[in-house]
Amino acid sequence: MIPTNSLPLSLLLLLSPLAHSQSPPAPFTRTLFLDNFTTYPPTLQQPTTSKWSFSLGTSYPGGPPRWGTNEIQSYTSSPSNINVTSPRNTLTITPLKLPSGQWTSSRLECLPVHDFSCAPGAKIRVEASLRFGSSPAAQQKGIWPSFWLLGADFRGNYRNWPAVGEVDIAESISGQPTLWQVLHCGTAPGGACNEYEGVWNTVSGFTRRQNEFHTVAVEIDRTNSGGDWRGERLSWWVDGRKTFEVDGGRVRDERAWTAVTRGSKFVILNVAVGGDFPDNVANEGGGKTPTTETKGGEGAEMEVRYVAVYST
Ligand SMILES: *[C@@H]1O[C@H](CO)[C@@H](O)[C@H](O)[C@H]1NC(C)=O
Ligand SMILES: *[C@@H]1O[C@H](CO)[C@@H](O)[C@H](O)[C@H]1NC(C)=O
Repeated sequence: MIPTNSLPLSLLLLLSPLAHSQSPPAPFTRTLFLDNFTTYPPTLQQPTTSKWSFSLGTSYPGGPPRWGTNEIQSYTSSPSNINVTSPRNTLTITPLKLPSGQWTSSRLECLPVHDFSCAPGAKIRVEASLRFGSSPAAQQKGIWPSFWLLGADFRGNYRNWPAVGEVDIAESISGQPTLWQVLHCGTAPGGACNEYEGVWNTVSGFTRRQNEFHTVAVEIDRTNSGGDWRGERLSWWVDGRKTFEVDGGRVRDERAWTAVTRGSKFVILNVAVGGDFPDNVANEGGGKTPTTETKGGEGAEMEVRYVAVYST
C-alpha cells in the first residue's frame, strides 16, 4: 500500500484509474501500435482509416458464410453501430435490432501495415482497456463482444483457419460476468488445440458496469525457450493478474504452435449476435440466440478506451 498523500500530483494522476497513459509497461519498451481515440477531430466519429478497416456484411469476400461461426448480424460502418465518442474519447460498437428483426453491428480489424510478430528472445503484449454491455443478461442473450487476434495468413485466403492461429484475448457472451480466453490452432475438428472448442479458460467476476473499464491482455513470450518451441508461452491477463497460460509443451505440435507464437498477427474488435459460441458453448440451457428478449442498443455495446501492441 502506497501512502498516496505523500505523492506528487503527477504520480497520483498516473495511479488514477481514469488516467490511461500508454507508455509501455515494463519490461516492454516499444509501442508497435496504439489507438487511444484521443487524437480524433470531433467531426471524425469513425475509426481512422490509417489504422483500421471495417469488415462488412456477413463474410469476407470468398470467405465462409456468417463469418464461419453462424452469427446472424450483418456488419456495417454506420455511426449507429460504430462510433468514436467525444469527449469520452472511446470507441463504441453497438449491436442493433432493426424493426424488420434483422441485426446489425460492426467489426474492425487493423490494417496489414500494423501486423506484428514476436521475434526470437522477445515478448509481445497486446492490451486493451474495455468494457462490455451492462444491461441485464436476459436482454443480452446472444450478444458476443470480442477482442482477438488472427494469423495474418488468413487475409485473402479465409479458408485456412485454425492453422493460422487465433488468440481470443477477451470475449464474453449473453451479458454474463464471465470472460473467455481461448487459443485456436492446428486442424479442425480435433487437432492440437482440440477444435472446435480450442484450448480455453474462463475468468469469473468480470463485472459489467457503466464506466467501469477492465484491462485485458495477452503476452507472447519467446524469452525462455532457448529456441525450443516447447518453452514458448502465451499468457492471458485481466486487470494486472495473469489468469491463464499455455506453452508449446502443452499443445505438442510444433507447426500448429509456432504458427501462433511466431506468425504475423492482427487485431480484431467486434460484437457478434448469435452463432455457435453463444448457442452451444455458453448458453446455459441451450437454445438459439438471440431470443425475443434480446435487445440491442445502449447496454449491449462494447466500449474501448485504447488498443496497444507493445514489444520488448
Ligand atoms: C494517446 O495517444 C497519443 C499518441 O497517439 C499520445 O500522444 C497521448 O499522450 C495518448 N493519450 C493519453 C491520454 O495517454
Ligand atoms: C457518436 O458520438 C458522438 C459523441 O462523440 C455523439 O454526438 C453522436 O451522437 C454519436 N453518434 C451516434 C450515431 O451514436
